[in-house]
Amino acid sequence: MIKTWNPQSWRNRTALQQPTWLDSGALEQTLKMLGDQPPLVFAGEARDLTEKLAAAARGEAFLLQAGDCAESFESSADSIRDRLKVILQMAVVLTYAGGMPVVKVGRIAGQFAKPRSSDTETQGEIELPSFRGHIVNDVGFSESERRAEPNRLLMAYNRAAATLNLVRAFTRGGFADLTRVHQWNQEYVADSPQGAKYEALAGEIDRSLQFMQACGIDLSRESSLNEVEFYTSHEALILDYEEALTRQDSLTGDWYDCSAHMLWIGERTRQLDGAHIEFLRGVKNPLGCKIGPTATVEDVVGICEALNPDKVEGRVTLITRMGADKIRDNLPPLLEAVKATGHPVVWVSDPMHGNTYTAADGHKTRHFDSIVDELAGFFESHEKAGTIAGGIHLELTGDAVTECLGGGDDLVDDDLARAYETMCDPRLNGRQGLDVAFRVAEIISQRSNSAAS
Ligand code: PEP
Ligand code: CO
Repeated sequence: MIKTWNPQSWRNRTALQQPTWLDSGALEQTLKMLGDQPPLVFAGEARDLTEKLAAAARGEAFLLQAGDCAESFESSADSIRDRLKVILQMAVVLTYAGGMPVVKVGRIAGQFAKPRSSDTETQGEIELPSFRGHIVNDVGFSESERRAEPNRLLMAYNRAAATLNLVRAFTRGGFADLTRVHQWNQEYVADSPQGAKYEALAGEIDRSLQFMQACGIDLSRESSLNEVEFYTSHEALILDYEEALTRQDSLTGDWYDCSAHMLWIGERTRQLDGAHIEFLRGVKNPLGCKIGPTATVEDVVGICEALNPDKVEGRVTLITRMGADKIRDNLPPLLEAVKATGHPVVWVSDPMHGNTYTAADGHKTRHFDSIVDELAGFFESHEKAGTIAGGIHLELTGDAVTECLGGGDDLVDDDLARAYETMCDPRLNGRQGLDVAFRVAEIISQRSNSAAS
């Protein structure tokens, strides 16, 4: 029997990874204020994204989900713009290679909460609560900075609104016009072999556009060329916040979590009887769930049944993050099992989170080669199982950081300290992100060539 759902029903389950808010009066007051705020996204937009993801599930589109590991309340407009530029560049590369639409979803405008493997962090003699993302506390190592402040929930909402406003302006207001494809190549990325390769591709796009214009097509009137559909997503971790932004759609009567278009459940909070599955099963947004190396067939099929009992295409995206050394063994049985149930799933590879390790100098890092290797293993596994590799999920920034090793610049351990800026996990820099897009483009075009021959 399916138990009844309401926006609070998760409160009867165990909710892992929730902060300890010390001031419960302030929390209540903040949640009430959040509940009175306008929605950040609209139900109709979430429905559109579900349809686009349904196409990805069928192999008629490809999902590019990318952005920061942990967004900062302080990130500048330039930094947000550069992140968007890299994602738009990557999307162009993938669209060109795959000959199909790329569904663009940012880890942006709400990716403020982080699950942690330990509740506390110890430095020397001092033990303090772990940093849980700007929605909860601050990254600095002092008692006041690490205190969970309910007011941050409201700051997160305001920050998400401002970021989303910028994203909407950039993607609708001419910046994303395909005739400006060259301008997305910001200086730092352009000055690299990948940037040059991108420039050549942008030149080909220019020529195609000129050809269309010469044929009498008025490009300025084609909204598909001068606007980009860009969606937001984040890990729905802090359930107080997500509940407060959940609204009933006046058109359909369905509930939507209006904090983002797409929400995902993290690897640490995907328990079948847990609060996160309970909360998200009741909202109609498209949902993601991370699937790590310990996930069993029962776990994965159980997640599909809990989140998508009606087997709606585009509703569930499973984001596998196995590690390059495990994916070829662990993924195929899951693909076979889900296929046998007939559950429609967008299978996506997150090649970042299974490949994190600590370098000798203490920096958390990932190597570009493992990232590419996990992606290759992902495509191989799908080919073998006869299932669809529907997209990729990455942590990146447009900034010139040195957080992941390898790539075109062949960053080594000694480079890490130079520009290690992340508050949480190591991100690909703009060059490395574009490089990943070219590698995936190569795999996709090889596959379509061999399918055609
Ligand atoms: C993340 O995506 O930042 C994350 C914490 O991932 P996972 O839940 O897969 O560990
Ligand atoms: Co991360």
